[in-house]
Amino acid sequence: MRRFSTRALLQAKPPLLSAVRSPLPLFLSAPRSAPARSTIHPRSRYTLSQTSKRYCSYRRMCGSRRGEASGSTNVQGREVLPTNVKPVHYDLTLEPNFEKFTYDGTVVIDLQVNEDTDFISLNSNEIDIHSAVVSSKGAVVESKPEISINKDNQVATIKFNQAISAGSDAQLKLTFTGILNDNMAGFYRSSYKVNGETKYIASTQMEPTDCRRAFPCFDEPALKAKFTVTLVADKSMTCLSNMDVESETDVQGGAKKAVKFSTSPQMSTYLVAFIVGHLNYIETKNFRVPVRVYATPDQDIEHGRFSLELAAKTLAFYEKAFDNDFPLPKMDMVAVPDFSAGAMENWGLITYRIVDVLLDEKNSGASRKERIAETVQHELAHQWFGNLVTMDFWDGLWLNEGFATWMSWYSCNVFYPEWKVWQTYVIDSLQSALSLDSLRSSHPIEVPVKRADEINQIFDAISYSKGSSVLRMISKYLGEDVFLQGVRNYIKKHAYGNTETGDLWAALADASGKPVQSVMDVWTKNVGFPVISVTENPASSSINVKQNRFLRTGDVKPEEDKVLYPCMLGLRTKDGVDEDTMLSEREKEFKVPDLDFYKLNADHSAIYRTSYSPERLSKLGKAARDGLLSVEDRAGMIADSGALAASGYQKTSGLLSLLQGLDTESEFVVWNEILTRIGTLRAAWIFENDQSKAALKAFQRSLVSSKAHELGWDFSEKDDHILQQFKALMFGSAGMAEDPVVIKAAQDMFARFAAGDVSAIHPNIRGSVFTIVLKHGGAKEYDVVLDRFRNAPTSDEKTTALRCLGTAEDPKLIQRTLDLAVGDEVKNQDIYQPLGGLRNHTAGIETRWTWLKENWDEIYKRLPPSLGMLGTVVQLTTASFCTEAQLKDVKNFFDSKDTKGYDRAVEQSLDAIRAKVNWLQRDREDVETWLSKNQYLQSKL
Ligand code: BES
Ligand code: ZN
Repeated sequence: MRRFSTRALLQAKPPLLSAVRSPLPLFLSAPRSAPARSTIHPRSRYTLSQTSKRYCSYRRMCGSRRGEASGSTNVQGREVLPTNVKPVHYDLTLEPNFEKFTYDGTVVIDLQVNEDTDFISLNSNEIDIHSAVVSSKGAVVESKPEISINKDNQVATIKFNQAISAGSDAQLKLTFTGILNDNMAGFYRSSYKVNGETKYIASTQMEPTDCRRAFPCFDEPALKAKFTVTLVADKSMTCLSNMDVESETDVQGGAKKAVKFSTSPQMSTYLVAFIVGHLNYIETKNFRVPVRVYATPDQDIEHGRFSLELAAKTLAFYEKAFDNDFPLPKMDMVAVPDFSAGAMENWGLITYRIVDVLLDEKNSGASRKERIAETVQHELAHQWFGNLVTMDFWDGLWLNEGFATWMSWYSCNVFYPEWKVWQTYVIDSLQSALSLDSLRSSHPIEVPVKRADEINQIFDAISYSKGSSVLRMISKYLGEDVFLQGVRNYIKKHAYGNTETGDLWAALADASGKPVQSVMDVWTKNVGFPVISVTENPASSSINVKQNRFLRTGDVKPEEDKVLYPCMLGLRTKDGVDEDTMLSEREKEFKVPDLDFYKLNADHSAIYRTSYSPERLSKLGKAARDGLLSVEDRAGMIADSGALAASGYQKTSGLLSLLQGLDTESEFVVWNEILTRIGTLRAAWIFENDQSKAALKAFQRSLVSSKAHELGWDFSEKDDHILQQFKALMFGSAGMAEDPVVIKAAQDMFARFAAGDVSAIHPNIRGSVFTIVLKHGGAKEYDVVLDRFRNAPTSDEKTTALRCLGTAEDPKLIQRTLDLAVGDEVKNQDIYQPLGGLRNHTAGIETRWTWLKENWDEIYKRLPPSLGMLGTVVQLTTASFCTEAQLKDVKNFFDSKDTKGYDRAVEQSLDAIRAKVNWLQRDREDVETWLSKNQYLQSKL
């Protein structure tokens, strides 16, 4: 999970994928909703005798899963079900009870028997199974079989006396009761308020391994089956599932209705969904099949209009792009009041957190609209990539998430070319990927995962952002048309089936005639990426380029620097860009027509950083000013320079000089990256002395003030999408750098706002105004913002207010923020918002950590690791630290804990702190000298 760029921070983004870049304080306002966006071990195949020990106490159970002649595809250590039977069809009936928060269920599973069998093992978690009946060939085999439960592995085993022979059919009928839990997993309850009264809906979240929490099932992505779902509910309630309604009948003497849905196509369990509750909807007929947006009655359903129409257009677009019709009879999209991620791609029934689907155009900023567009298009891309064609197991998760991410940017660019999202990609997804992947604790794109508790942790910037960066790279290398042709072939070939990464490469190789696999394998099977160092040979008009592993901590060991990555060089010269040359060896010399101007990695299409000499860097700064570089080049070069300074490959003074020379920059995306890098620097220096911190702030002010004043903070209908965000970015940044004019403007707006004029603050700068005012204010301002959290009309404004509360520095207010975070008012889904706001100041960072330590048991209980949120909270509360002593403290605390389910978060946090400790040690003086020389450090003038 998790990058905390300022962009991510300032827009109620769910914790998923947010903390990949090191947590930054809110030193600048970053309004652009660049999507939350954060080398291979071949999947070895083992023979039968090597299958997981767990099952070997049973007889004859480890057969061939998918009937491959070569034998079992079980992978050693991976916890999978035995392959003696395979599900074909589920007939599932569920009846939620909103008083007891339970549900009664019956499931009849038709099975194909692969070998003589006297047991059936399937997944089940926190479900009370009351009865089981096993039948075959229409006759009962056993009506009271022995049922044993392995809680640790979440497996129920039904054992019967008489074996069923291979090749015959079997049927397992189970009755059970489940908990309508409040953990946002499985079949869960979600609450909303109408006139102060709490109401509930029941909804599902199965991915990755919580379908087994909803009903007993064969909960692995490759075990596809058909599903026929029936929901029993009050007649006033809406019942939804993946498919359309086949019939509705009165049951229980007319007291309730049973809604039976059509049988689904062959699909994986993690995509099953059902919802029961009072819901309103809007519908569009602008697509071949009906598309609807649903929401609870406390929401204005008209706010679903933007997503609704976008979904209809996007479905039509994807049908063409994939050359494959959407196979279901309808598409429903539902705003769910409690939702742990941002959205979930359930086939035909996409679920969302409210802010990621409902848009009040008048009351939300441009960045919110962009995030919603991205989310809708991402989940719709999954309908093909993920739902129709599914990864074989979770170590192929990146195929799902990397592709949906790439596709959402691709389609967003088609629908909204004026948003120029591919420019944003370079400062967003690409940087998320490089940021997490520069830690020793990163992992390969294709990562072996064995247990359920490991799977949640790989929904991170590697799967999403490095995954999509790899696809962006190959799509540029092959050409987008050829790339999409390969994707079409892949979808056609594997529809309703499962794939491994190699299947995608094979389809792309087929379409392009190029050796895709050998190039791409290096990128997906290995952790990390290289930095390419450039030296110049004027005598021969050539450059020497050399690749080495890049680590943020700057301490690469020789054994960590063995992989040679195939790097598209992308050499830009005055003659254009060389698209073909690849550096696959450690080191090589290349001719350059004129050493006067050149740059590597044109448009930052490839996954590496480039290290130039200080002289070359300043020439590139000049080239940027002279218009020789694309926006992507400028932004990417700044990003590289920032990362190289932070990790010791360059001096930080060099970065500061480069940034200082860029004040004539005119593009939003480039400014965004400039300010992100200053933010990273200030975050690492946050525990340094006040003078240095004031000097850094003064430097930021000198960079941004005039631009902020020039752009202004009045928003008009005529401002385009990017200009709105540009104004907001500069306003927020100037405010956080204590520009007096901006502070005064923010305070004036806030005063009018507090007096009741809610239109006094434009939604684009709402977060910045709250932040600025809270930083300079006290309890009075805090209460106004808190009131907005409680009473604002939209979820978007509520969460903005909640996030900003943490900026208040008064110890009493810090305590109130912490109490609020775990109080009843803040939903678990939003707990990271108030906690995140506290990173802005040292008192907040320290108090938050002490609070976590003191309340660990309670927090652990409230957010058990299986929910996937504990890792976010751990990262949030620790990764802001910068000193050796703090590093020790964090390490000590977790050394004595069982970190199962959030161990990656702890490791990544520790690595991120280490990197800052090293950075400060190296460049503390360098920075001070530069600040002093450039007259920002007042005392040294
Ligand atoms: N499949 C995920 C949702 C998910 C995440 C399920 C983690 C289980 C664990 C979904 O497609 C997704 O990626 N959602 C993103 C949205 C997006 C625009 C990147 C999210 O939730 O933020
Ligand atoms: Zn996804």
